[in-house]
Amino acid sequence: MNIELNKIAGAGLSTLLVVMALNMGAGIVFAPKKPVVPGYDLPSLEPAAAAGGAGAAAAVEEPIAVRLAKADVAKGEKAVGACKACHTFEKGGANKVGPHLYDVYGRAEGSVAGFGYSAAMKARGDKSWDADALDHFLKNPKAYVPGTAMAFAGIARPEARADVVAYLNSLADSPKPLPKP
Ligand code: HEC
Repeated sequence: MNIELNKIAGAGLSTLLVVMALNMGAGIVFAPKKPVVPGYDLPSLEPAAAAGGAGAAAAVEEPIAVRLAKADVAKGEKAVGACKACHTFEKGGANKVGPHLYDVYGRAEGSVAGFGYSAAMKARGDKSWDADALDHFLKNPKAYVPGTAMAFAGIARPEARADVVAYLNSLADSPKPLPKP
C-alpha cells in the first residue's frame, strides 16, 4: 500500500521535473520578449498597410485634382463610347435620352433648355458640373443625385473617371481651368 503511494508520488514528481525542464528549455530557445511597458504589444499599422499593398492603396481614392493632373483626354474620349447611346458630345449636338454634353463642364446642373430632366436633377439649384461634381456623379449617378433618370451604373475606376472629366472639359470653345493638386 505504501509502496504504491510512493510510486505514484514519484511519478508525479518526475513529471513535474520534466515539465519544469521543458519550460526552461523553451525559455532559452524562444527568449520571450518582455514589453517595455506592461500590456499588449499592439500590431503596428505600418506593416499591415504595406502588406495590404495595392489593395490598401486602391481603397483610398486620390483627390480628383491629383488624378486630373495625370488624366488622358484620349482615353476619356474612348471611354465615353459607353455614354453615346444616350448623349451627344459634339458642338450643337442634339439631346437624346440624356441632354447634350458639349460644354457640360462648368454648366449649371440640369440646365439644358428644352430637355426633360428628372425632378431630382431640376432640384439641384445653383450647383454646377465642376470636376468634383462630375467625378462623384460618374462614380455612382444614383448616389450623387438620388432619383436621377440617368440609368447608368457608374465608372468604378477613379483614373478612368478622371480621364472622362478631362475629356468633358476639353469639349468647349474655351475649356475652363481644371483644379490643381
Ligand atoms: C442610359 C442612358 C444614359 C447613359 C448610358 C448615360 N447617361 Fe448621362 N444622363 C442620362 C439622362 C437621362 C440624364 C438626365 C438625368 C436626370 O434628369 O436626372 C443624364 C445626365 C447626365 C449629366 C448631367 C447633365 C446636365 O445637363 O445636368 C451628365 C454630366 C451625364 N449624364 C454624363 C454622362 C456620361 C459621361 C456618361 C457615360 C460615362 C453617361 N452620362 C451615360 C442618360 C444616360
